[in-house]
Amino acid sequence: MNSDRVLIFDTTLRDGEQCPGASMNLREKLEIARQLARLKVDIIEAGFPIISDGDFEAVQTIATEVQGPVIAGLARCVSKDIEAAGKALLPAGERGRIHVFLATSKIHREHKLRKASEEILRLTAEGVRHAKSFVSDVEFSPEDASRTEPEFLAEVVQAAIEAGATTVNIPDTVGYAMPGQYADLISYLRTHVRDIEKAVISVHCHDDLGLAVANSLAAVQSGARQVEGTFNGIGERAGNAALEEVVMAIKTRPDVFAGLSTGIETREILKTSRLISRLSGLHVARSKAIVGENAFAHGSGIHQDGILKMRETYEIMDPQDVGWGGTDLPLTKHSGRHAMVARLEQLGLTLSEAEIVPIFTRFKELGDKKKFVYDDDLVALAGDAVAGETGAYSLEYIHVASGSSTVPTATVRIRHGGESEQDSSPGNGAVDAAMKAIDRIVKRTGHLAVYLVEAVTEGQDALGEVTLKVDFGDGRLITGKGASTDVIEASARAYVNAINRALVMQPTASGIEMPKV
Ligand code: KIV
Ligand code: ZN
Repeated sequence: MNSDRVLIFDTTLRDGEQCPGASMNLREKLEIARQLARLKVDIIEAGFPIISDGDFEAVQTIATEVQGPVIAGLARCVSKDIEAAGKALLPAGERGRIHVFLATSKIHREHKLRKASEEILRLTAEGVRHAKSFVSDVEFSPEDASRTEPEFLAEVVQAAIEAGATTVNIPDTVGYAMPGQYADLISYLRTHVRDIEKAVISVHCHDDLGLAVANSLAAVQSGARQVEGTFNGIGERAGNAALEEVVMAIKTRPDVFAGLSTGIETREILKTSRLISRLSGLHVARSKAIVGENAFAHGSGIHQDGILKMRETYEIMDPQDVGWGGTDLPLTKHSGRHAMVARLEQLGLTLSEAEIVPIFTRFKELGDKKKFVYDDDLVALAGDAVAGETGAYSLEYIHVASGSSTVPTATVRIRHGGESEQDSSPGNGAVDAAMKAIDRIVKRTGHLAVYLVEAVTEGQDALGEVTLKVDFGDGRLITGKGASTDVIEASARAYVNAINRALVMQPTASGIEMPKV
């Protein structure tokens, strides 16, 4: 059997759940299975019914409730396993598949099973026949196939097909295979197993050497038409082949996978990945292909510039195709002028050339100090620049005297328009005193509506970031942010930042309408 369709077999709920710490309850498994059905995977391996009542119930419930995909249950080549799987899969009717496995490699035969090759052949045929008495759709896996002698593997696969297996899976159980070698093994089976075309050839790769996806794709090029794996690549030890990568490689490289396709609704990929990560508790690395936070985030200025001119310069996939909102261009010290201006425009700030020059200089300075330059930082930079001749206010100095038996008093020095001014004020607490002293200099009165302190680094010298929202009496709430190892100083900086932003949030001399907060 060789068609143009590559079937996607998801084993998140079975092999994925074997990942230490990833076990899920019935409700969570059902939620994942429903999402896998929306994603249109072809087969969901819902569990291993004999291993626990929980697994039996999960397979039975998913077989009852989830429509669309084939539902598979795993079984060793042992009667009681096969019977449990058959029973759990009853509600799936024609969509039920029993997946029977038996180890075939020399090391497993001699040290784990202690069985001769002849016995393995006999058990294979018996197991498949027994499974066939429950369902017509039977998959057989010679466990550790990639380390099995190819001649013997061919005999086992042939025995399974003769007994009625409709899918023969060739697992790289310990992630030992190399792509070329694994592709050759699939070709070998295609030429040495009689009636191989009666079954779908499947592959199931583990990632111990980081090659699970590469091996799966090499096998597809050799004629495999079912790929097993999990979303986010979770699974036993280093995990299984990450299906999102397999699916997107086939879709993105039609030149390599000529005429082949999967039935996956790729726009559901990100949602699936996030759901599995949330319910399994296994985080997805930022740099993980397709679904990692950075998968479509371009940090370098040259790349950002290219992307803005033509997305395809640095993007081989459209992020929206896998469910992302769009390309993310986080601004960093590497970002170029073009990217900064584009982001300012997205924020509603169309600035003149004269205004952009100093903003870009300060943007680069800030980028040297911070990993990312956020939208708020940009608005503040723009605010400083647009304030023009008079310049923005900046905090030069702060001293606060407070204690259990003194009235808190703050003294601040603020620079503005090339001049420095100092004043003091008592207050109802240190932050209030600092704000009042600043008010006396800037001749405004701000009322604090929201005040938040967050540690942005760890340890005793943690940098605290204060975010506040201030009402200066015109009904708008203006956000200000400030960071320092001293929380009172961070608060004063945040307050000065809010004042500067309030200035530019009004129509300015340059006619620029700044965004409302
Ligand atoms: O890795 C493996 O060999 C398996 C089999 C049960 C298919 O998970
Ligand atoms: Zn496995």
